[in-house]
Amino acid sequence: MHLPRVVDAVLDRLVVPGYSRVGYAVRRASWRSVPAGCLEGRTIIVTGAGGGLGAAAVRGLVALGARVEMVVRDRSRGEETAAAVLADHPGAAVDVAVCDVSSLDDVRRYAAGLRDRELAIHGVVHNAGVMPPERTETGEGHELTLATHVLGPFLLTRELRPVLRAGASPTAPSRVVFVSSGGMYTASLHPDDPEFREGTYSGGAAYARTKRAQVVLSELLADDLAGDGVVVHSMHPGWADTPGVASSMPGFHRVTGPLLRTEEQGADTVVWLLSAAEPGHSTGVFWHDRAPRPTHYLPRGGETPQSRAALWTLCVDATAA
Ligand SMILES: NC(=O)c1ccc[n+]([C@@H]2O[C@H](COP(=O)([O-])OP(=O)(O)OC[C@H]3O[C@@H](n4cnc5c(N)ncnc54)[C@H](OP(=O)(O)O)[C@@H]3O)[C@@H](O)[C@H]2O)c1
Repeated sequence: MHLPRVVDAVLDRLVVPGYSRVGYAVRRASWRSVPAGCLEGRTIIVTGAGGGLGAAAVRGLVALGARVEMVVRDRSRGEETAAAVLADHPGAAVDVAVCDVSSLDDVRRYAAGLRDRELAIHGVVHNAGVMPPERTETGEGHELTLATHVLGPFLLTRELRPVLRAGASPTAPSRVVFVSSGGMYTASLHPDDPEFREGTYSGGAAYARTKRAQVVLSELLADDLAGDGVVVHSMHPGWADTPGVASSMPGFHRVTGPLLRTEEQGADTVVWLLSAAEPGHSTGVFWHDRAPRPTHYLPRGGETPQSRAALWTLCVDATAA
């Protein structure tokens, strides 16, 4: 059954129906399933994989035959989650690696180790996310949401370029996916204050700004990696019931509880972006529920070439060894 575009657009523009489990249920009726085993022989890295949408993405990728490396901060929680995945998929290839993606030194260490171990990888999911209650700086002096959502993933992608390139073939590009958020629609880039030192800090505002930056960065990396056979996408998972939402937004979690998606439903488009044919034919697109979405709804909302260039320069300068 084909879902009329107008129905999909109305769900999307009304936000609550589109982002909730209602939108997922209405849209999935028209989806085709991806071929079983379509990820066999492919190695995919998932950050923030110890719980929430990251763990659900691992389960979905393993179910399609992928070998998955779970990147976590807490090894014991990572191994607990890996054990649960292996209980459902005996014999699957699931590894646990420890890396704090907000620490640029730790990202360099992890990436160097992975390059030494792996000849090729086929995908990276930048899923690790945080919404701190107050302004927090990393040991390297960067604001935490900027380091976790933007600088760390930028550096990890660039450090893994050789093995992503090795994993690509003319018919099957390697894929990088940023798990952004619909919250990015409420924010713009702040080229003059990327570290959120000015004004009144709020975790929600910092989160939205860096989720906006993820969408723009995925477009810039799409251009940067086009010659390496790597496609880069960003996506919004909808609203899903995860430990992160429960702890960072207790009020929202309470009010929207019954409407929230399951973790599997939230991770569905992540798994689809790594496995379906369609997203391999484009790059630099923002997706929600397996469909491309505009990155701005207001006519003059777009980023200027200067603010885009400033984001790129920020990432290059901040991650220079
Ligand atoms: N759930 C939703 O409704 C929703 C909506 C829009 C977007 N998203 C996005 O989806 C992604 C996953 O969110 P979630 O809801 O699953 O949240 P979650 O339950 O808090 O999961 C986030 C995961 O990221 C890990 N993480 C955080 N900082 C890290 C770091 N510096 N290094 C390595 N791992 C780190 C956390 O590890 P620890 O366990 O060690 O803390 C946790 O496992 C996030 O990027 C979020 O912005 C979620």
